[in-house]
Amino acid sequence: MQPPASTPEIVAPDALLVEVAWEVCNQVGGIYTVIRSKVPATVQGWDERYCLIGPYFPQQAQGEFEAFDDYQLQLLNDPFAGAVRQMRQMGYDVCIGTWLITGRPRVVLINPFQAYGQLGQIKTDLWLRHGIPTPDNDDLLHQVEAFGHLVKIFMKVLTDEVVPPQRVIAHFHEWMTGVAIPDMRREQVPAHIVFTTHATLLGRYLAMNDPNFYDHLMQVDWAAEAVHFNIETAVRIERAAAHGSHVFTTVSELTVRECIYLLDRIPDCVLPNGLNIERFVALHEFQNLHKQYKDKIHEFVMAHFFQSYSFDLDKTIYMFTSGRYEYHNKGFDLTLEALARLNYRLQQSGLEGQVVMFFITKRPFTSINPLVLQSRAILDEVHETCNAIERQVGERLMYAAASSTDHRLPDLSAMVDDYWKLRYRRTLQSWKTSQLPSVITHNLIDDQKDDILNFLRRSNMINHQHDRVKIVYHPDFVSPTSPLFGMEYGQFVRGCHLGIFPSYYEPWGYTPLECVARGVPAITSDLSGFGDYVMQHVQDHDDKGIFVVQRQEKNFDEAAEELTNMLWDFVLLSRRERIAQRNRVESSSELFDWKNLRQYYDRAYELALERS
Ligand code: G6P
Ligand code: GLC
Repeated sequence: MQPPASTPEIVAPDALLVEVAWEVCNQVGGIYTVIRSKVPATVQGWDERYCLIGPYFPQQAQGEFEAFDDYQLQLLNDPFAGAVRQMRQMGYDVCIGTWLITGRPRVVLINPFQAYGQLGQIKTDLWLRHGIPTPDNDDLLHQVEAFGHLVKIFMKVLTDEVVPPQRVIAHFHEWMTGVAIPDMRREQVPAHIVFTTHATLLGRYLAMNDPNFYDHLMQVDWAAEAVHFNIETAVRIERAAAHGSHVFTTVSELTVRECIYLLDRIPDCVLPNGLNIERFVALHEFQNLHKQYKDKIHEFVMAHFFQSYSFDLDKTIYMFTSGRYEYHNKGFDLTLEALARLNYRLQQSGLEGQVVMFFITKRPFTSINPLVLQSRAILDEVHETCNAIERQVGERLMYAAASSTDHRLPDLSAMVDDYWKLRYRRTLQSWKTSQLPSVITHNLIDDQKDDILNFLRRSNMINHQHDRVKIVYHPDFVSPTSPLFGMEYGQFVRGCHLGIFPSYYEPWGYTPLECVARGVPAITSDLSGFGDYVMQHVQDHDDKGIFVVQRQEKNFDEAAEELTNMLWDFVLLSRRERIAQRNRVESSSELFDWKNLRQYYDRAYELALERS
């Protein structure tokens, strides 16, 4: 697979493109990032001939979607607006408007609940026509099937509106929207259908439960496993969509393998994921941001650790991992093992410096640990006291300097009022403790069964002063409203030194790419779609700060040793070397810009126009 040379500005001028995804104006996971970040590049090639379709959920759409009013709708004379008017005349509730993101694309949102009255019939039809059974009690399946039914109707109406030789490409993402495909084929809706799966359902479940998933892939009895994991409906929808599309695609070569064995169809194309890369005109700008956000992380670290003991922040390396809590699939297990080995090596080495490792993921919790919160609050008070003392000394020193006769620096301590001296001492006294800093920031609902915590307990890596790798497990997303970090996830990434993502199962995996886009080096694995792509397309990727742990041919212990070596080498870099490496990382981010990767999509569309 070679990246095509350049993006043609206008693609298939006689075709319309409709992209359907459950995550349009509705953020759930990675597909939202794919669709949203791709919009500016897609609009560039397809312009007014492009429209997105998603489910209408008022809460989610609020703030992201601006509907056209009736008057605006009447004025529009393109086929999408025509189809919406037609649907409304038929009595359907369909909104059309703008998605308020960069590129400002046209969006049609359809409320799935309006078809709940016909659910019985929809489910019967899916069963009788396509052998897809639906249980009675699964609301997500009901929403998905109702939505699919409505999208099919929209596609029929839209293709009626379109005057040949104009043609319609309908691109469905993931099984949740792919449910519309089998009936579109049955009713011969004249659209050129592309289906993209971003993983296989069975692949994800099996990888989570079978330590030798990749060895067993070829012998999986898909129907039996689907029943076993209680996902039969979704699996059958996924297969029907894969087989019903004119062009079937997925996001990486790794997922191609899964599609072959679990869905029994070889994908026609691989569509790698990109980002909308926005680079600064001046290179040093992103380096300044690293410093600025690292200072914010320093604040957190001071609050969290210095209550118990302190260390040199200037010699501290911040590493992190993040993502859905899939302990094994995301490689948290491998990361922890490597960190334990790194901790030991650092202790033996006599080298200076610390590593602080953050685990950013999502687990059910009752609250933020009150002690962690309190420590943060007291440190804020220490900060205030220091500021007050600084102001007082500043003013008095200025006065003393101006009226000085001997030009000698006076005793600064004498310039501080007793009130502030006392307050300084009392605040610090109430703050310092002999307890160890907690490895987790929140109180988990199921603390005893948590795999990360259990690993840390077993290996006794619980933030002893002598531990050279310190752990902060934050079981919630980082957000500006969080009292602990108070920053955007992207800012947190910028402030760190290294991202660690050695996944065992990962169809693509955006997290390392999000690091690279911000000039932060990252570790991925050859079992992630991104890592596989990097190995094939990015020369000297190690030198560019994108490291790939070999897991395909290696066992857990060997992979852990390789990861440990990577971490060790990173810790040994000097500041100068880190700065230079960040520059190289940042300049390779361009490779993953949708401006370059959109071409894979366009080729799939051309293929769909040739077929059917
Ligand atoms: C950026 C800033 C420098 C700072 C450096 C720290 O490059 O522009 O002012 O010294 O980051 O790098 P480090 O890898 O030690 O966080
Ligand atoms: C799925 C995959 C993930 C990928 C995303 C976007 O969520 O699990 O690896 O990055 O889709 O394609």
